[in-house]
Amino acid sequence: MPAVLVTGGAGFIGSNLVRYLRRERPGWTVVNLDKLTYAGNLESLADLRNDGGHLFVRGDIANADLVEHLCEQHEVEAILNLAAESHVDRSILGPGIFVETNVSGTQVLLEAARRAGVKRFVQVSTDEVYGSLGAEGRFSEASSLRPSSPYSASKTAADLLALAYHHTFGLDVIVTRASNNYGPYQFPEKLIPLMIANALDGKKLPVYGDGMQVRDWIHVEDHCAALLAALERGKAGEVYNVGSDNEWPNLQIVQQLLRILRKPESMIEHVKDRPGHDRRYAIEARKARSELGWAPRIPFADGLQRTVDWYVANRTWWDRVRSGEYRVYYEKNYGARG
Ligand code: NAD
Ligand code: TYD
Repeated sequence: MPAVLVTGGAGFIGSNLVRYLRRERPGWTVVNLDKLTYAGNLESLADLRNDGGHLFVRGDIANADLVEHLCEQHEVEAILNLAAESHVDRSILGPGIFVETNVSGTQVLLEAARRAGVKRFVQVSTDEVYGSLGAEGRFSEASSLRPSSPYSASKTAADLLALAYHHTFGLDVIVTRASNNYGPYQFPEKLIPLMIANALDGKKLPVYGDGMQVRDWIHVEDHCAALLAALERGKAGEVYNVGSDNEWPNLQIVQQLLRILRKPESMIEHVKDRPGHDRRYAIEARKARSELGWAPRIPFADGLQRTVDWYVANRTWWDRVRSGEYRVYYEKNYGARG
């Protein structure tokens, strides 16, 4: 039974990926290494509690001995690295931990993979490494890297380290760069779940600046399918963009959510913009479609409706994750924008 190590598997994309791999490749064992930071939550994996093919380990990707031990103990064939500090606003409030986890943590993991003879390493990255676009054009894998936030800078450094491990040491590395994900189990500090939660609570919906910044949205399950395709069919040393041709200005996303929830647009409040806010992301994913045989399947209208339904039905989940630490962050980030 082949084993794969998923890091960050208690987070948003990670928990969806663990579930997806167990469903699509039931013969594989999924070892899930997660530090359980504020963003990691075992309740996101509650349905896998009695699943012998999912092994959860609490720990840090920056713990070389632990990672090497896990790889050897379970004869791990591949690593999918999703563990990260992932929120741009938090990276503005405190960049240090982003370097520790996203840069140093990834390097430690790469080194452990090399020593343990892991056959493939998938570095899960973001389109934010390319920086910001004007009104025209889209990012391709050949676009230059111009990250603008501490988050995206740390992800860029990690991508480059991963590719350096391929070029220098021959480690089989693949880098995927996905656009903004949405779907169930996303921490309610990110745009879509934050707006749903605030609307359901009768709170204002804080839109940064004019709200005309554009993001390119992909359903998390389509992203998970791309990660499996990259793992199975990707070519070592290559980068694959992952997106679903679905650009929207933030304000229109918020308006759509309010329409689905039958709430008034008067709940929207324009607040002070994010410093260094990237204006537009748009991703060209032709290479993943042609070389990985992958294509996104979930139309945005369906995906958004299903996501709203999930948050309406799973209030206990997001109420719990918005406990103490979240309130402190919310006050720090939004208190200063009023
Ligand atoms: P998330 O914040 O929801 O989850 C991150 C997980 O990593 C959490 O469970 C956390 O506990 C864990 N973690 C953090 N530091 C760790 C450490 N040192 N050791 C072990 N575990 C640690 O993030 P997400 O949105 O699920 O993103 C997952 C990955 O995908 C990240 O690498 C992110 O950069 C990338 N990505 C995210 C998006 C998006 O839209 N969310 C888009 C493209 C790429
Ligand atoms: P976010 O979900 O943080 O993802 P990213 O910054 O990685 O793209 O934000 C998506 C967009 O929504 C981004 O342009 C910032 C904006 N935004 C708001 O306008 N208000 C908010 O409260 C949040 C969290 C984000």
